[in-house]
Formats: sequence, structure tokens, C-alpha cells
Amino acid sequence: MTVGALVIGVLAMGMAAAAPSPVGTPAQHADSLLLAKGVNPHPAKLNIPPARPLSAMAQLGRKLFYDPRLSGSGQMACASCHDAAHAYGPPGEISVMIGGHDMHTAGFRAVPSLRYLYRQPSFAIGPDTSSGDNDAAATLQQQAQTAATHDKVLKTAQAPQAAAVNLVPQGGLFWDGRVDTLQQQASVPLLNPAEMAASAPEAVAKQIEQADYANDFRGLFGPNIFKDGRLLMAEAMFAIARYQIEDPSFHPFTSKYDAWLEGKSRLTAPEVRGYLAFNDPAKGNCAACHLDKPTQDGLPPLFTDFQYEALGVPRNATIPANHDPAYYDLGICGPYRTDMHDQVQYCGMFLTPSLRNTATRKVFFHNGAFHTLDEVLDWYVNRDLQPERFYSKDASGKVAKYDDLPAQYQSNVDTADAPFNRHPGDQPALNKQEIQDIIAFLRTLTDGYNSAKH
Ligand code: HEC
Ligand code: HEC
Repeated sequence: MTVGALVIGVLAMGMAAAAPSPVGTPAQHADSLLLAKGVNPHPAKLNIPPARPLSAMAQLGRKLFYDPRLSGSGQMACASCHDAAHAYGPPGEISVMIGGHDMHTAGFRAVPSLRYLYRQPSFAIGPDTSSGDNDAAATLQQQAQTAATHDKVLKTAQAPQAAAVNLVPQGGLFWDGRVDTLQQQASVPLLNPAEMAASAPEAVAKQIEQADYANDFRGLFGPNIFKDGRLLMAEAMFAIARYQIEDPSFHPFTSKYDAWLEGKSRLTAPEVRGYLAFNDPAKGNCAACHLDKPTQDGLPPLFTDFQYEALGVPRNATIPANHDPAYYDLGICGPYRTDMHDQVQYCGMFLTPSLRNTATRKVFFHNGAFHTLDEVLDWYVNRDLQPERFYSKDASGKVAKYDDLPAQYQSNVDTADAPFNRHPGDQPALNKQEIQDIIAFLRTLTDGYNSAKH
């Protein structure tokens, strides 16, 4: 496909909220000329969460988020791993953070960004049903059973919404979706022995009672709050969740790309080329999973479809848990999530993360196997063409492709959706120039481009 045809193709799929028109009309020719100059031909008004003063609850949540006294070691706050200066992602390039009571215990997974979780649906198999009548909702096991008899729609960047109906796991928090709400979530790191390692809710309650914000608790929850450690813990977690939901720093939408969607910035030539390759089903096809168009109601894209995939990311030997050859992090089917253990068709599947602010990270994928976007893209393109460059060798010297999954689950790895549909000897999905262009485009997703305007 020529770039001209491609520009028209991309425009035809409804680049902004504009009504789609037939391919190749004079209007679309005008559109592609604008795009070639870096201008968005169909600016849209984005529906961005309004910035309001924080509620008292959220203000209390902020204090808790930054308070290391809640941890067993007294040295680790939420913010130690979720660093505001790095889009609430990991502050450095170490694959898994070190924490625990002694501050020497390594974690198991890369720290995700806490930005843009405000629209994360609850975990379900099939389209999100959390807003509907849930009384008759099938159990996850029943949903998995139904899903097993349905064919999966291929994911293409041209019609990513077609895959939204797939009966596949979607939604939830953590890399395996094991909790649904920010409130439920917050107690996990607090009590996790490898993270904040608080000994028990009662210990957390004791710390809070001595903190300078103890009176905030009495004011909000009444004088008896310190008599019930569990209730206090639940309220504290609720406050942390409110902070993440209310504070605009968790969903600022101040990237260059947001400005571009609203017609307030111009992309450079490499950024436009990267944008096109990101959306081209025959090239990156990235937008099939990392959605990049505003929704019908103008909600800005979050660069995730909230679904799970097994990509076969290489095993990361720097994670201490991986020194045990019998240990595997299988995502949805365990070991940290325990309810889907028998649904082996989901072994190896992890949540598709947002790519907003991805250029600020130095740790990529659930196991932090890669540390630069160049490495990530190189692997995306060459996973099946040159596996020997990414995977270890087995005892007989043969390359062990998808070496972070036991053999019986390797068929779960996505080899159908582009760019993962290549075989040895095929042309790579992206050449070196296109890889650099996509990285240039990904950099437009970093917040703070135009913070004065929002
Ligand atoms: C020692 C580092 C560490 C600390 C401290 C920590 N977290 Fe995390 N956080 C992680 C890791 C690692 C994950 C991913 C875990 C997984 O997927 O199993 C995570 C995941 C999350 C998620 C889910 C994000 C997503 O994209 O699904 C939220 C929300 C979160 N943490 C909030 C918090 C809060 C609130 C605190 C403080 C109470 C906290 N974290 C403390 C390391 C940490
Ligand atoms: C079939 C769906 C799918 C497609 C297509 C896809 N991705 Fe992903 N992407 C994922 C999933 C799932 C993960 C997390 C996998 C894991 O950690 O095991 C991921 C992770 C990433 C990450 C790491 C982010 C982080 O915070 O760790 C980057 C960067 C990324 N993708 C960029 C791209 C680019 C660029 C393309 C196009 C060349 C692309 N993806 C195509 C599903 C997809």
C-alpha cells in the first residue's frame, strides 16, 4: 500500500469522531494532505474528567499514599513504587521492586502505572457486564465454559471494536485482573510480604492512630474508628481509592497526542508516519489492542482494549523467583490469581497495559523483561523470525521459544494477530525506520506537553 492510500484508509476508518465517508473522495484527499502536514483533519472535543477540588476523603487518601509508616519496614509508601514523577510507575529500571519487612525482598512483577485506571471495567469473560443487572450473572467458570465454544475474532487496527465482543477475559486490576476496585486493590500491596509487608490490619490501624492525620479519621468516621482495625483499614483503602479517582494527576490527558486529537498541536513527519504504522493492520497493527481513537462520546482513548493476551514474553532471569525452574508466572491462571487455575486456555495471558506515558518507563511487560522501547519493538517484530535472539536454549542447545511458559501452554501464545503472525523467512512487520517512527509516535503519549491548557 502506498502512503497516500494508507492515509486515506486510516482516515476512512474514522480517525476522529467524524462520520465515515466512502474511500477516496475529494474531501478525503484534502484530509490526507492535512495529515501529511501533521494536522488532525477532524479535531474532536475530548470529554476529560473535570478538575474539582479534592474531597476531604481524597485529601486523606493522598496523605496515606505518601506515608511510609504504614509499611512493615516503615520505609515504603505506595509512592515508593508508584512514583508521581514517572506517571505513577516504577522510578528506575530494576524489573521488580525490592521491598518487604527487611527492604530486601524482591517482588514478582513489574510495577504498572496508576494513570488512566479510572475507566478500567471489572474482570469478566466477554464484554463488561458490570453496569447491567448482575443478579443472574454467570460465574467466571461458567463464562469460561461458554467462551470455549466461541471462535475468536481476529484483532485488526482497522476495526478494533469488532474484537470487543470476543468472549475473552477483559477488565480488572493487576496484570492478572484479580481484583476489581481500587479500594480492594490497595490492601494487597499493604499486606504483601514482598511489598509494604504490614503484619496485619491492626498494625496499620496502630500506625494511623499515631499519625498527624489521625484527627482527619476521627472527623470523617467518628471517634470510635480506632476501635475497629478492619473497618479503619477499609476506610483507609477507600480514601486511597478516592485520591486516585479524584486527583487529576491520575488522568491529566495533557499529552501532545491529546492536544492533536483536539486540533491544538501538529505532529512531526516521523510522528505521523509512526501513527500510520501503529494503525496499519499490515504493519504494527498496534491499535488493534492499544486503542487510539476517542470513543463515540468523545472519551479520550486509553491505548488498551482492557483485554488479555499471551504474547510469550521471554523469561526474565533477573527475577529471583525465576531461579526456581519449576516457577512460572502464568497470569490469569495463577499463581497470584487463584480462581482460574483450571482454565488452562488462559495460562500465560496478561492484561494489555495502556501505552500512555510508556516512553517514561524503563521497565516493560509484566515481568520487566525489557528496558527500552527499542528492545520492545525489536522483539515484537522479530519474536518468531529470530527467536534465538530473545530466548534461552534448552539442554540440547535448541532455542526454547516462549521460554517463560511450560510447553503445554505455549499454544495459548498469540500467533494469529498481526504483528505476531510471522513465520521464519517472512518479511518483518516493521523495518528499522518504521520502528523508530512508532517510538516517535509513542513519545507523543507522554503527559505534560501542554499542561497549562488543562
Ligand atoms: C513494592 C512496590 C509496590 C508498592 C509499595 C505498592 N505497589 Fe502497587 N503495584 C506494584 C506491583 C508490582 C503491581 C502489579 C502486581 C500484579 O500485577 O500482581 C502493582 C499494582 C497496583 C495497582 C493495579 C494497577 C493496574 O494497572 O492494574 C494499583 C491500583 C496499585 N498497585 C496501587 C497501589 C497502592 C494504592 C499502594 C499503597 C497502598 C501500592 N500500590 C503500593 C508494586 C507496588
Ligand atoms: C494482540 C494484542 C496486542 C497487539 C497487536 C500489540 N500489543 Fe502491545 N501489549 C499487549 C499485551 C497483552 C501486553 C502485555 C503483555 C505482557 O506483559 O505479557 C502489551 C505490552 C506492550 C508494551 C509494554 C507496556 C508496559 O507498560 O509494560 C508496549 C510498549 C507495547 N505493548 C507496544 C505495542 C506496540 C508498539 C504494538 C504494535 C507494534 C503493540 N504493542 C501491539 C497486546 C498487544
